[in-house]
Amino acid sequence: MLVAPSILSADFGKLDQEIKAICDGGCDLIHVDVMDGHFVPNMTIGPVVVSPVAKAATKPLDVHLMVENNTFFVELFAPLKPEYITFHIESEKHPHRLIQKIRSLGIKPGIVLNPHTPPEAIEFLLEDLDMVLLMSVNPGFGGQKFIASVVEKAKRLKKLINERNPNCLIEVDGGVNDKNIHELKEAGVDVVVAGSYVFGNDDYSKAIKSLQI
Ligand code: DX5
Ligand code: ZN
Repeated sequence: MLVAPSILSADFGKLDQEIKAICDGGCDLIHVDVMDGHFVPNMTIGPVVVSPVAKAATKPLDVHLMVENNTFFVELFAPLKPEYITFHIESEKHPHRLIQKIRSLGIKPGIVLNPHTPPEAIEFLLEDLDMVLLMSVNPGFGGQKFIASVVEKAKRLKKLINERNPNCLIEVDGGVNDKNIHELKEAGVDVVVAGSYVFGNDDYSKAIKSLQI
């Protein structure tokens, strides 16, 4: 299991130290939550803040867009050379076109599904994707309770992925901890995002390793 700590739960007063600590602690990716105050009722960070993060990072960035104007934000973050940019299917009228655009910028494209969106909604996009991110909370905030139905959804998605594009990864985001990690692994999940679980632990390295099962 790959682990992507979400810097939403980091101490933004000492972000460079926090980035160094999770990278030294053995994380696989750095999850960056981008919120525009429209698609979700919260706002976070733009490239002005993420650029020094990218410089301090020794692990690749996993940018999760929670925005209405996806194309604008893809263009804004592309110069930071993230490994992945994921966007919500619920906010995009032309997902296939946007996937091609992200790939043309040399970035791996992924799609995010809110808790109510069935995996079949993206069945015909799977062959063009590197990752599907399943939300296990309603997007907008860290520290929320895990929505357990994501486990069944991951199993259904895994079947579709096996049929259409076995290289596509499944990522789960929200309320992940050392209790639910085992059922996620069993369901076929490849990557977990963990914000409050990692940054709420005194020992980031220990928390990250407890999820790398
Ligand atoms: C929620 C974000 C998550 C969040 C996860 O909108 O997409 O990445 O930071 O935080 P935890 O792990 O605390 O639920
Ligand atoms: Zn996220």
